[in-house]
Amino acid sequence: MMRFYSLYVQKVIRLTSGSVRFDLLIPEHLKSIFHWKPGQFIRFQFEINGEIVERDYSICTAPYEGYLSFVIKRTKNARVSKFVQEHIKEGFYVLVSAPIGTFGIPSRPDEKRTLAAFASGSGISPILSIIKDTLYHESGVRFYLFYGNTNEKEVIFKNELTKLREKNPNNFFPYFLYSQQKMQDKLFEGKLDAHKIKLIINQIMNWDELDEALICGPKEMIVTLANAIYEHGIPKKNIHYELYEPVEKVFHDDKIKRSTVKEVKVTFTFQQSTKTMNWINNGSSLLTALLDSGVDAPYSCKGGVCGACICSKKEGEVYVDENLILTENDLKNGKILTCMSHPKTETLIINLDDV
Ligand code: FES
Repeated sequence: MMRFYSLYVQKVIRLTSGSVRFDLLIPEHLKSIFHWKPGQFIRFQFEINGEIVERDYSICTAPYEGYLSFVIKRTKNARVSKFVQEHIKEGFYVLVSAPIGTFGIPSRPDEKRTLAAFASGSGISPILSIIKDTLYHESGVRFYLFYGNTNEKEVIFKNELTKLREKNPNNFFPYFLYSQQKMQDKLFEGKLDAHKIKLIINQIMNWDELDEALICGPKEMIVTLANAIYEHGIPKKNIHYELYEPVEKVFHDDKIKRSTVKEVKVTFTFQQSTKTMNWINNGSSLLTALLDSGVDAPYSCKGGVCGACICSKKEGEVYVDENLILTENDLKNGKILTCMSHPKTETLIINLDDV
């Protein structure tokens, strides 16, 4: 079961008409737990009208800054973000999990490398944490940012990004695109899409030098950009993305393997209790089968990215569609992602408590 900790809200700052930043203080005795990697997120638990709801928000500060900061953007019909913006004030306490998630790239202080990040709206949060941390540790980096918003007024962290550029003129190159604002240079007008990637390659970056790409925003944007970047020669393993919404698969050419097994008898341990269920091979993932049978199995992205659904396989086999998280060693030790697992053998024994 996920554990939640009570953290003090130190500052609440409105950034744009729809976005508010919340800074949380990490008390001395919780510093070893709230030790995060740039790109990770935290799960918040709120009680709204007697109902417990949970939401994930990416951390936008870098670890060297020593405090946690989040942007919560209010969107139409989003009752949780509305509740948070209206009710959570400075001096309040909020319930949050320890940092989780696998989005991001390892730091390489001794290397010269070129990185490019593509973000839209509040998708800037984990990207900002990664940018700050990379600029702080890597003097040889060239970090490009392509950040899309509806118009200039909606740019979250415009000042902070401008200051980072001024402080790191040889290392950081931010570009802003607006989907609902006329721009003289058409490259910067419209949404980030496959055509924009072509223009960026032709007019801005030396694409051959690009080592890693990072993408964060709505799932349509992630799928479009990940495929465009891949088609322009960047290997899948060097394209990193953070999905906030479930998606069947990101890369168009990923093959989904199917077996002829019709039904799997699954024995699963969850919250220390062991039960069985039948998993019909109709294209649903193991996670979907668990959720459909009423098991409150953990998940977040449903896209093989966040790692929230990792569990241990004790017996039997599954096909794992797409895996950007588990290492060879994890796989050898029986770790699987339930959201990406499909039937392979007729029996399967898993432990959801063993992550
Ligand atoms: S739910 Fe995110 S990897 Fe499975």
